[in-house]
Amino acid sequence: MCGIFGYIGNRNDAGKLVIEGLKHLEYRGYDSWGIAIKEEGNSILLEKDIGKISEVDSNNFTMQSNLAIAHTRWATHGGVTKENAHPHICEDCSIAVVHNGIIENYEELREELKQKGYDFKSQTDSEVIPHLIQEELKNTNDFAQAVRSACKRFKGRYGLLAMDLNSKTLVAARTGSPLIIGVKKDTGYFIASDIPAFMEHTKVVQYLDDGEMVVTNGESILFTDIETGEEHPKREIEITWSIEKAQKGEFDHFMLKEIMEQKDSIARAVNQNEQQIKKLGEAIRNSKGTFLVGCGTAHKACMVAEYFFSVVAQEHVNVTSAGEFKLYNHFLTSESLLIVVSQSGETADVLEAMKIAKSKGAKVLAIINSEGSTIAREADDTLLINAGPERAVASTKALTGQMAVLMLIAYSMKNKLKEGKMLLLETTSLINDMLNPRYIKFIEEVAENMKDESDLYIIGKSWNFPMALESAIKIQEVSYVHAEGFAGSELKHGPIALVEKGTPCITLAGDDEIFPDIISNTIELKARGANTIGVSPIQSDAFDTWIKVPNAGVAQAIVNIIPIQVLAYYLAVKRGMNPDMPRNLAKSVTVK
Ligand code: M6R
Repeated sequence: MCGIFGYIGNRNDAGKLVIEGLKHLEYRGYDSWGIAIKEEGNSILLEKDIGKISEVDSNNFTMQSNLAIAHTRWATHGGVTKENAHPHICEDCSIAVVHNGIIENYEELREELKQKGYDFKSQTDSEVIPHLIQEELKNTNDFAQAVRSACKRFKGRYGLLAMDLNSKTLVAARTGSPLIIGVKKDTGYFIASDIPAFMEHTKVVQYLDDGEMVVTNGESILFTDIETGEEHPKREIEITWSIEKAQKGEFDHFMLKEIMEQKDSIARAVNQNEQQIKKLGEAIRNSKGTFLVGCGTAHKACMVAEYFFSVVAQEHVNVTSAGEFKLYNHFLTSESLLIVVSQSGETADVLEAMKIAKSKGAKVLAIINSEGSTIAREADDTLLINAGPERAVASTKALTGQMAVLMLIAYSMKNKLKEGKMLLLETTSLINDMLNPRYIKFIEEVAENMKDESDLYIIGKSWNFPMALESAIKIQEVSYVHAEGFAGSELKHGPIALVEKGTPCITLAGDDEIFPDIISNTIELKARGANTIGVSPIQSDAFDTWIKVPNAGVAQAIVNIIPIQVLAYYLAVKRGMNPDMPRNLAKSVTVK
């Protein structure tokens, strides 16, 4: 959560540059923003406010400057106020800091610094950082050393950027929260929480790893270990994502763009190195216990995969939310396998699960979208789903890519990889046909009829059950309608009491042997007055409205979720919400 971006080099428009770049990180947090610019005459211009960075005019920051840092916030400690927005500065205004993460021992540090006469202006944990750096500067003339000494005292997770007027340097340090350096020869260094911030300037990157810091004066850069000060050589990597893929193009919102991209992104997920897929399948077969974890939508992909492994590969896997993995540690040995699924590759609960597994000697495999992310780098082996940048907070194309890859692994375990690939590629072309303008219009009309409802329920069986849970997440997070998903058979054990005359209830179904069962559940709902909507390849009298989907067999879950994503999108738009920036949420959840 929180986006940070800084620049140092020989350009003289650093302020405008960082504001524009930061707008590409808005998905990481959007309750307030701020910027610190080194102005001519060697002073810091500090400006911050509540509100969205996208609404800030970068032309207000055209003053001559070659060094600036900026921040877009997702509040953790301290409410959404101008004072709590970053950057925070030290007493003599020579140091400015932006921070992503949580300094867990901030209360103790704050007290200590207050005793020494430091004055705090915000309620944030982050404000201890510039003050502590200034305090450490009493023991050294070297700004980077002072940052190092301060970092050694922090407990918790941080990705921070500190700029210093005296040394005219920019220092970045990380433990837990991502930071990536964009390198442009003869121009300077861009340091951000994520690549889209500087993608229009350079595609050459260097990753800052946990426990590392970097210092740059704009001409050269030095990576060192925070603890030991030892120099760390770094490779430059050229990233493959294109700027077009990271922009909205003709769409009003990233969410709709990313939903529509699924006809291509699923095909890209399927186009995997076969040896790599087989290797993962073998790792599952050979493990003495496979655990599959993720959070939110990625967790639902894991739940669907449990059915893939059962039905296709007849292999048992244990699925849980990454945040609930801690007490599973008793089941782990050095022969266990943990498979983590994450779009961003930065989710704190997933990283924690990896740490637990590694502490028991278990192997960790990652199914990831973001190249070079922390999870991708810390796992023993990684498989990229190749969905391309996913910018909307609501995960759509990453989910279907994750499910496609997990399905391929299940097929490979039965030596049927080709069959799995064929099925998925056929499904992609069915999705392509399905996502035509008339179809989208039809779902928009369904959303129009439903937009004033306050409660909505979704049911499914087998792999459509996790998709019912996922449907609820999608609708909740972007439209704020109270939505809940259930296994169809669970209805009569409690939830059916919620249904009143006219309550919209969505049924997710496939053309399979359990179709009659889920239809019975739908009839039970209809008998209580529900307004039933079926997402199914086959029509039924039980549906008041039928959203037709192609028959995709084992891949039905992948197909069925797509009209629901469209429905959630239009419910949000029709209720006046911005689906790309739901309240209280951020794209990468880098706090536990
Ligand atoms: O980046 P990750 O896949 O690890 O993120 C996990 C969840 O935070 C994410 O899927 C979240 O639930 C989405 N906002 C749902 O659309």
